[in-house]
Amino acid sequence: MWHRYMCLHTHCGTYDTHGYGRRPGGVGVTLSLTVNGDQVTLHCEAEEDLATALRRAGYTGVKCGCDGGGCGASKVFLDGDVVMACGIDAADAADGVVRTIEGFGTQEELHPIQAAFVDHFAVQCGFCIPGMIVQAQALLEETPDPSEREVREAIDDNLCRCTGYQKPVEAILDAAGRMRASEQPVTDGGFDE
Ligand code: FES
Ligand code: FES
Repeated sequence: MWHRYMCLHTHCGTYDTHGYGRRPGGVGVTLSLTVNGDQVTLHCEAEEDLATALRRAGYTGVKCGCDGGGCGASKVFLDGDVVMACGIDAADAADGVVRTIEGFGTQEELHPIQAAFVDHFAVQCGFCIPGMIVQAQALLEETPDPSEREVREAIDDNLCRCTGYQKPVEAILDAAGRMRASEQPVTDGGFDE
């Protein structure tokens, strides 16, 4: 019986050596794509989903909550669109441009959406949060000043079992304000007469 194992080695791209996730007799596929600005080579099985391939390559911020496109935990950007990575064949992402949660802020300098989630105590177990933040980014790119209703509609397929959604909604509304403020042109404050 075949089980889909997740490689526990943080930056493991050596699928063939370890054999995790290998289906007996399965055919391997090697593909190149851009992940968070880096050229990456993924070694996968034919028909393996993108979430599994990304996780094996170390992008473990991509979560697998249902494996069926039903929870939003595996959301990433693929060529500018939000997709559920569990529902995409990795091979179909060949030569694509992917952005995962690892492509947002750093530990030292959080992305404004991440910072707002922290400040609003919107993170509990955290499992849903990467997908929620990816979706929030997509919303704020399209709608920089969303209403509460628009935020709720945007994340309505991001399932969260912990927060009750109120704090994530507040965090996204706050992040919208932070991002708008950071995009305002710097002025001279009226000193340049
Ligand atoms: S794991 Fe992909 S949507 Fe649930
Ligand atoms: S914070 Fe736990 S599932 Fe959302």
